[in-house]
Amino acid sequence: MSVKENIAIVTGASSGIGAEISRHFKNEDGLEIWLVARRVDRMESLASELKARGAAVRVLGLDLQQESSWAELEAQVKMSGRRVSWLVNNAGYGYSGRVEDEPLANLEGMIQLNVRSLASITRRLLPFMDRGSRIVNVASSIAFVPVAGHAVYAATKAFVLSFSLSLREELRPRGITVSAVCPGPVGTEFWDAAGVNAPPTFLVENASNTAFLAVEKSAQGKAIILTGALAWGARLIGALVPSTWLVRLTTSRINR
Ligand SMILES: NC(=O)c1ccc[n+]([C@@H]2O[C@H](COP(=O)([O-])OP(=O)(O)OC[C@H]3O[C@@H](n4cnc5c(N)ncnc54)[C@H](OP(=O)(O)O)[C@@H]3O)[C@@H](O)[C@H]2O)c1
Repeated sequence: MSVKENIAIVTGASSGIGAEISRHFKNEDGLEIWLVARRVDRMESLASELKARGAAVRVLGLDLQQESSWAELEAQVKMSGRRVSWLVNNAGYGYSGRVEDEPLANLEGMIQLNVRSLASITRRLLPFMDRGSRIVNVASSIAFVPVAGHAVYAATKAFVLSFSLSLREELRPRGITVSAVCPGPVGTEFWDAAGVNAPPTFLVENASNTAFLAVEKSAQGKAIILTGALAWGARLIGALVPSTWLVRLTTSRINR
């Protein structure tokens, strides 16, 4: 597929993994990179950095918890007349705590952003994709393991993983590749939003490396992209240990 007049859309591009993924698109690809998130100032500054390296960049300030934003993104793609060669569904957040203590706005917001927005945007943009297009959905290693204290977040990421794998098969005849990225803990602002301390540094992935693996492995056509040792561990444990046991193990701490 020629990449001229094509776009790479990255949601959640204002910080963390999304910003790093935007940095990993190669200028020579001739892509226009669309940065999508709420904090426009952050994205403008990233756009200046990318433009200084010769990239074509567009900033779209959209709150993806708003359903109107999903339609707005679709409309912007349609108006551009361009084709979508990369869709990186990365925007998301986690909240930590028992479900019964969780503010409803957080619980509903996670489902709205991590699940509904991701599925709707993907569906809306599929008509603008061609053979060779790639969809990269950022899930998490928590998708493999139910974790009490992160019940809603873990379930949203299990959705992302399952959705990605099924969609991948549906789109195989069209030559569109779908990958689910499953990082372990990554050093980003995620932990501030989650209201918990990040794990010790030696367990935390570098966001740039996570992003590099996401782009490179997706380009190689990988279905599930594990970006660190903890992610590999979670995948293995999730495959070997019954989920009813696993969840009891993770529950022991929260009910203490
Ligand atoms: N960090 C980790 O340990 C880790 C591990 C596994 C998976 N992940 C996943 O990786 C993805 C990126 O997270 P991160 O670690 O890079 O954290 P981050 O730095 O907090 O980035 C989250 C991004 O999502 C965007 N976002 C949040 N709410 C939004 C909304 N309503 N509308 C549009 N954009 C919104 C944020 O932009 P604005 O605030 O500007 O809108 C930001 O760009 C998430 O899906 C997360 O679940 C993270």
